[in-house]
Amino acid sequence: MRFTDRRVIVTGASGGLGRVVAELFRGEGARVVATDVVAADGVVACDLTDDAARDAFVNAALAELGGLDILCNVAGIQQFAEIGKLTPAGLRKHFDVNALAPLMLTQACAEALVESKGNVVSVASISAVMGQPYNAQYCASKAALLLGMRSLAVELGTRGVRVNCVSPGGIETPMIEAAAAGLPENVNWDLIAKSQSVIPGFMPPVDVAEALLYLASDVARSVTGANLVVDRGVVW
Ligand SMILES: NC(=O)c1ccc[n+]([C@@H]2O[C@H](COP(=O)([O-])OP(=O)(O)OC[C@H]3O[C@@H](n4cnc5c(N)ncnc54)[C@H](O)[C@@H]3O)[C@@H](O)[C@H]2O)c1
Repeated sequence: MRFTDRRVIVTGASGGLGRVVAELFRGEGARVVATDVVAADGVVACDLTDDAARDAFVNAALAELGGLDILCNVAGIQQFAEIGKLTPAGLRKHFDVNALAPLMLTQACAEALVESKGNVVSVASISAVMGQPYNAQYCASKAALLLGMRSLAVELGTRGVRVNCVSPGGIETPMIEAAAAGLPENVNWDLIAKSQSVIPGFMPPVDVAEALLYLASDVARSVTGANLVVDRGVVW
């Protein structure tokens, strides 16, 4: 029960990872406001790329919880696109969901987190630090998120707020299937194989969710600006 009465926001909570993160927090006594663009039981519907809707969501969540201890940025999108298929709209969408929304959410929650000496955990990806074929829009947006969060860790560190990222490799969630629709017909599997892990297969979401909870918990009190990689060893 590491999170008894802790006040938590979890985004992407209708998705494969976010749902498990919200469940684990609730299981350890937290009061969770969960959100996603896709409505679900116990999930507040909000498109986090809509500035007004995002601000309204934060105001309502902070009022409902009476403050905030932990912000978990889990929502994200991935669509493979080879170079010829990149579009301004596709790139903007990836940056809006994967980088802009979590950074602006952190800004909107910052004062509440300063008050509680709370923390932020955001889900980046191993794609933030490695070149991957057909994945420029996702890699670029996750790299922006990772360094954006690290910058906020510097600014907020002096005010008692920790900011960390978890970078997963492949997780068994709907995202993988949705992303694969964008792969070209003549996929070069040799290039894709370079992102393979030494422990084979995709991870169950709980393996990644546990890493988020560790960073959000008090035992991680000396950890900030970190990027905790949970990827079954993509070390080739
Ligand atoms: N699945 C993987 O292999 C993998 C690997 C590395 C990192 N990640 C990251 O993990 C996080 C969770 O992904 P997942 O695997 O659970 O995928 P998922 O598709 O199951 O969940 C992502 C959730 O984000 C939500 N979302 C998308 N756009 C949104 C918007 N505009 N506003 C609000 N919510 C929005 C989706 O509705 C979805 O429920 C993402 O940030 C993803 O980039 C996933």
